[in-house]
Amino acid sequence: MAENLIIFNARVVTPTGFSARKGREMAEVQVLENATVEVTDGLITYVGPNRGESRDGYYQHYWHYNARGRCVLPGFVDSHTHFVFGGERAEEFSWRLKGESYMSIMRRGGGIVSTVKATRVSNFIRLRARAEDFLKRMSAMGVTTVEGKSGYGLDKPTELLQLKVMQSLARDEHRRVDVVPTFLGAHAVPVEYAGRTDDYVDFLIREVLPCVVKNGLAEFCDVFCEEGVFSLEQSRRLLLAAREQGLALKLHADEIVPLGGAGLAVELGAVSADHLLHASDADIEAMASRGVVATLLPLTAFALREPYARARQMIDAGCAVALATDLNPGSCFSGSIPLTFALACIYMQMSVEEAITALTLNGAAALNRADRIGSIEVGKKGDFAVLDTDNYHFLPYYVGMNCVYTTIKEGVIWPIA
Ligand code: NIG
Ligand code: FE
Repeated sequence: MAENLIIFNARVVTPTGFSARKGREMAEVQVLENATVEVTDGLITYVGPNRGESRDGYYQHYWHYNARGRCVLPGFVDSHTHFVFGGERAEEFSWRLKGESYMSIMRRGGGIVSTVKATRVSNFIRLRARAEDFLKRMSAMGVTTVEGKSGYGLDKPTELLQLKVMQSLARDEHRRVDVVPTFLGAHAVPVEYAGRTDDYVDFLIREVLPCVVKNGLAEFCDVFCEEGVFSLEQSRRLLLAAREQGLALKLHADEIVPLGGAGLAVELGAVSADHLLHASDADIEAMASRGVVATLLPLTAFALREPYARARQMIDAGCAVALATDLNPGSCFSGSIPLTFALACIYMQMSVEEAITALTLNGAAALNRADRIGSIEVGKKGDFAVLDTDNYHFLPYYVGMNCVYTTIKEGVIWPIA
């Protein structure tokens, strides 16, 4: 669905450009007062000083929206989530509150593998309904594009099922959020392959990946590259095969221990390396110089009681930093954009402007879409988060509270319900 829309009396707040903003550029957010944004058939065709009146005849074919001075930002891009899954893991959360670690729960058969069990016995309708509900909640927080990963099937039919759920949501004519699918078959080793990780990687390469690619079910391939899960070598093998078949690459890198996943992302020309709680100084420098987007997930660090990724150091080193929620049933059962802003600014020493860039243009870059979304510029999609204030500093300041008033997707105004 796409509409013609003219937004006037807006305070437009946006990064600019058609590629990731690196280092110091992240703070360069443009603010336009008394601005008009024109969207024609879903795409932005004008941004600049108010100009409604002089073009009367023309605008009769447009919806009109008076922003009354409110901030209008690009729709937020949540570039790392796991929003399609069965079951929940509330009990595991309570074990963690009592002190058990995420990895120790995983080692004794809980964690990801327990969501795999629940996802395998679910079905298309149930998975889709739940996932759609998450998208609605995200939309209410200003999100207009979301990345989603498979990885709770770990067998061929269920991996494909998760991806088909995302494909169906992505093709929904009435969607409020665009969906970008990632194949994460290497999320954990399923019980049938216990102790045979290399065989599982072979299976993914031989049986699952070609089917994913042939059916156009994923744009990215991702791996949980972690001690005790997939080694650097196993991750490299799978990612090389994926790259050969035309998928772009992402990695869960250096989340729990410093394994060197960020360095592998640089070596393979991945689009992004994600988590990075323990990325080394050398790998941070390398990501900056090779343009790998550093995707940071503060809600996960918060929920796991881990120290936050070193955002300040990464930005000062010249990295393009993106922020995302990591919504998943285990390590981080939250898709809260407001809390992501608060944690990034309060605990990770990011400025509000940097956090805005990280959740818009750099999120778009982490999905290979900086040419199409992530800023309010002519030619990009008419996707916006309209705040209920004229002061964008409320984003982190109003801690954990939603200050999105309206979300607009390709010129269509969606009610916040
Ligand atoms: O990004 N670390 C691996 N994957 C997810 C957690 C998935 C889960 O616990 O279900 C993450 O943190
Ligand atoms: Fe994740």
